[in-house]
Amino acid sequence: MDLQIKNKIALVLGGGGGLGGAIALSLAKEGVKVAVADISIDAAEKTVNLLKEHGAQAYAIQWDLARLEDIETKIATIEAELGPVDILVNNTGGPPPTTAHSQDAGVWSTHFQSMVVSVIKITDRVLPGMRERKWGRVITSTSSGVVSPIPNLGISNALRLSLVGWSKTLAKEVGNDGVTVNIVLPGRIATGRITFLDEAKAKREGRSVEEVSKESTAAIAVGRYGDPKEYGDVVAFLASGLAGYLTGSTVRIDGGLISSLRERRDYYAIIVHRANGATEAFADRNAVCHVIEDGYTQYLAGRAGCASRSERSKGCRHSLHTSFYSYQSGSDSWWEHQDCNRRDASRKHCRL
Ligand SMILES: NC(=O)c1ccc[n+]([C@@H]2O[C@H](COP(=O)([O-])OP(=O)(O)OC[C@H]3O[C@@H](n4cnc5c(N)ncnc54)[C@H](O)[C@@H]3O)[C@@H](O)[C@H]2O)c1
Repeated sequence: MDLQIKNKIALVLGGGGGLGGAIALSLAKEGVKVAVADISIDAAEKTVNLLKEHGAQAYAIQWDLARLEDIETKIATIEAELGPVDILVNNTGGPPPTTAHSQDAGVWSTHFQSMVVSVIKITDRVLPGMRERKWGRVITSTSSGVVSPIPNLGISNALRLSLVGWSKTLAKEVGNDGVTVNIVLPGRIATGRITFLDEAKAKREGRSVEEVSKESTAAIAVGRYGDPKEYGDVVAFLASGLAGYLTGSTVRIDGGLISSLRERRDYYAIIVHRANGATEAFADRNAVCHVIEDGYTQYLAGRAGCASRSERSKGCRHSLHTSFYSYQSGSDSWWEHQDCNRRDASRKHCRL
């Protein structure tokens, strides 16, 4: 299939890394001329050498994305080397694993600058040219954590979500000019970053790396980590001439890892009123949990529009997640849902 992007010019940020390198290669194989930017010039050059082995025209540029003051010079250099950017792939380095709480304001600011503001300002720099030429692609790679927050990646979960809102808003602003704007979400694609995170988790929890990666893999529908090429190829399609009607989307490249249908599951929880009078709320980690204090035995949390008690206990149950059930049995209450087949294991896994 001809992706109709031969001789277009792409800029791939973080292009020396696993995902960026794979995206750059997939684009290069389609005849795209690729500028590969990375904080590590060695990493950028490694990618460029690979691209050249495939006969592509490519250019490596050292670029620390946190340095907003460098944007003009870097883009001007790329324009002089290859020409104006038609395809921008926003892919930044990842923050260290951290909790969401107790991080210094300075840490938040630093990562906001390198992961969010940089992306927005680089896009601002190349957008006018794309709009004038009536053709452009802005593809921002974030993380599955923007849909299903990943424990101990507090900074990543929080900051990357802002790019989803930005991207969606931008898509409406420039769609008329032939510029598409989309988000891609990697689930677990086998790169150095994933190895690093698995190792960090194993160390933190006193487990082996094999055990951690086996557990991660078990949550993926296709039963394995992704190959970076599989990621790059989807991005190349989004960048293609064939994808002109695909904009404002968030595309999951996750092997089926993320289990929700919607991007946010705001009302996905159950309330259990125990026989001893205690009320407990359970939810998975994406849920907003509403405790309903009216003495009813148990039901899924209500949502706006389900005004009456009976609607909440019947109607909403069906309109929410069909494989999420709750039960009342005799003197105690128990519950389960699709990820929690055993009563005991499920409580640990799903409790907020
Ligand atoms: N691999 C996955 O499955 C996965 C999943 C979720 C999120 N992510 C995120 O996607 C991004 C890319 O992931 P990856 O797997 O390719 O990681 P990677 O570590 O292989 O590559 C990241 C690249 O970014 C570069 N970089 C880091 N800081 C930079 C900076 N300030 N300026 C310019 N370049 C910088 C690094 O030198 C490296 O080449 C990361 O932010 C990662 O957290 C990846």
